[in-house]
Amino acid sequence: MAEFGKVAVIGAGVMGAGIAAHVANAGVPVLLLDIVPDGADNRNTLADTAVARMKKADPAPFMSPRAAKLVETGNLEDDLDKLGEVDWIIEAIVERSDIKRDLYAKIDGVRRPDAAVSSNTSTIPLATLTDGLSDAFRRAFMITHFFNPPRYMRLMELVTGPATEPEIAAKVADFADRRLGKSVITAKDSPGFIANRLGVTWIQLAVGQAVEQGLTVEEADAVIGRPFGIPKTGVFGLLDLVGLDLMPHVGASLAAALPEGDAFHTSRRELPLVERMIAEGYTGRKGKGGFYRLNREDGGRQK
Ligand code: NAI
Repeated sequence: MAEFGKVAVIGAGVMGAGIAAHVANAGVPVLLLDIVPDGADNRNTLADTAVARMKKADPAPFMSPRAAKLVETGNLEDDLDKLGEVDWIIEAIVERSDIKRDLYAKIDGVRRPDAAVSSNTSTIPLATLTDGLSDAFRRAFMITHFFNPPRYMRLMELVTGPATEPEIAAKVADFADRRLGKSVITAKDSPGFIANRLGVTWIQLAVGQAVEQGLTVEEADAVIGRPFGIPKTGVFGLLDLVGLDLMPHVGASLAAALPEGDAFHTSRRELPLVERMIAEGYTGRKGKGGFYRLNREDGGRQK
């Protein structure tokens, strides 16, 4: 049975914060790192802000006071060496393969040789993520795709590559199952893996259909939310939860990887409203609001 003494999460955004809270709630110490924003007085501000948010999040306690004591915050410039103290490094930064690879090269210089490293990517194939990295890094590397919110979504997709050491992957799968309560599904290294390959195509179709029909978001969610198995939030609420700014990255990554004629391409629609919302900071719950707040402001019509 795998026991990890300490886990690091890099990226304190929607998913990194949620994963860090879930690991800490399971009683395991966590190092939470993010970048230093330009001109920040507090160099750990992104991780600190995430912890403050997790303590308050509803339903409380999203992260228990006891768990909060297990979270150490830091930043990637001053605290990179601390990654040498952990057993599993989980990367949950922006969905861009070039930025992720730069980070992995830095991690490779400081990690313990037997530590597991994984990405929470939604769509980027493992082969792309490890391109140009050392053989030793490839042995330790896999994709662990948690779903949002990590506290409640039981599924975790595990993707390994030909170089991944089976023993390291087995330790991560065992820990995720026993300590984090996840149902671990092994997926092939294919674009979007299983859930996002199906889910993104379906959501694109649903959103496009709602726009074409001129439905309000409530009307659309009444038809394409719960009846199609998306509980509570509906499709538009799910997009608010996920973060609208992730959509272009996910779309670009799948568009580049999937062959012409794939259902993903035929389900794509131009959605100028989404582009405008992102530009104006309406990125969903993490921003000024999303479809639902915008809905209140503009009478609910998709433009
Ligand atoms: P987010 O935008 O909420 O957070 C990303 C974090 O990465 C931010 O805190 C940002 O400061 C940090 N970051 C940006 N550039 C960085 C760099 N160069 N080095 C280190 N950190 C950097 O993103 P979110 O939504 O949490 O997504 C993170 C990862 O998880 C992505 O790969 C995404 O595809 C994946 N994912 C997202 C889900 C969601 O529902 N939002 C669900 C499952 C996976």
